[in-house]
Amino acid sequence: MTEYETIVTETRGRVGWITLNRPDALNALNSVLMRELLAAALAFDADEGIGAIVLTGSERAFAAGADIKEMESKSGLEMIMSDHFGPLARFADVRTPVVAAVAGYALGGGCELAMLCDIIIAADTATFGQPEVNLAVIPGIGGTQRLLRAVGYYKAADLVLTGRSLSADEAERAGLVSRVVPAAELLAEAGRAADAIAAKSLPSVFAAKAALDAGMETTLAEGLRFEKHVFAALFDTADQKEGMTAFREKRAPEFRHR
Ligand code: CAA
Repeated sequence: MTEYETIVTETRGRVGWITLNRPDALNALNSVLMRELLAAALAFDADEGIGAIVLTGSERAFAAGADIKEMESKSGLEMIMSDHFGPLARFADVRTPVVAAVAGYALGGGCELAMLCDIIIAADTATFGQPEVNLAVIPGIGGTQRLLRAVGYYKAADLVLTGRSLSADEAERAGLVSRVVPAAELLAEAGRAADAIAAKSLPSVFAAKAALDAGMETTLAEGLRFEKHVFAALFDTADQKEGMTAFREKRAPEFRHR
């Protein structure tokens, strides 16, 4: 397994685990961490033995945002020419579903990183927010766009314009969080969700994520057309025959990810 400076990776069964590991900076997203996170996610994505990824931080912080100290002295031109958050844009394109297991702070880029994942499981200690306006900037990794789509205009505007934070419960009520669990159960619950996904046929899971992503970006009519074709394409997989045969024969399917 590759050694990283700012993250720790591990494989458990068919699940790849990525733990952000900059405890002294509350897992603030600096360039090294963003590059390493992308590299680890792409390595899992390229491995057919992996069917889901869990992304987590520490008990205190999932991530407290983009690294403010690294960005502080940069010019606008440098931010553009270095494509500062480019690795996270590419992380969003990973085909394998990612379960975010969020405890503690998920602020700014940390909240946006959670929103780049497919399922967000929050400990009851988690805090979500987009406080960038306190720094005289705005969210830069999709916070004005994905948050808006997740929770609607008025809740998103409340967070982005005032910089206030949401508790895990409030975030769940708003639709930003998939499930809230006691902190002690966070990793087990995320592991169970990831195991459940990883047990499915990988082509169908890739297709489901792609269709959901398409739905976030397009009109209903275009999304339905995309879904129709991807649904039909899955009938050419051996796993579709196995899944439906197993149902008729009243047994568990044995998927080969083909
Ligand atoms: N960047 C860099 N360092 C950070 C950081 C960040 N986003 N968040 C925390 N740290 C560092 C602190 O500077 C501190 O380091 P030192 O010990 O060297 O001083 C260490 O992490 C611990 O933090 P605190 O002492 O501040 O811990 P606390 O418990 O008192 O407060 C906190 C926790 C409320 C999360 C506070 O750290 C905080 O407000 N952090 C910044 C949150 C923020 O503004 N995030 C948005 C960043 S901008 C962004 O993300 C842009 C974008 O959209 C892409």
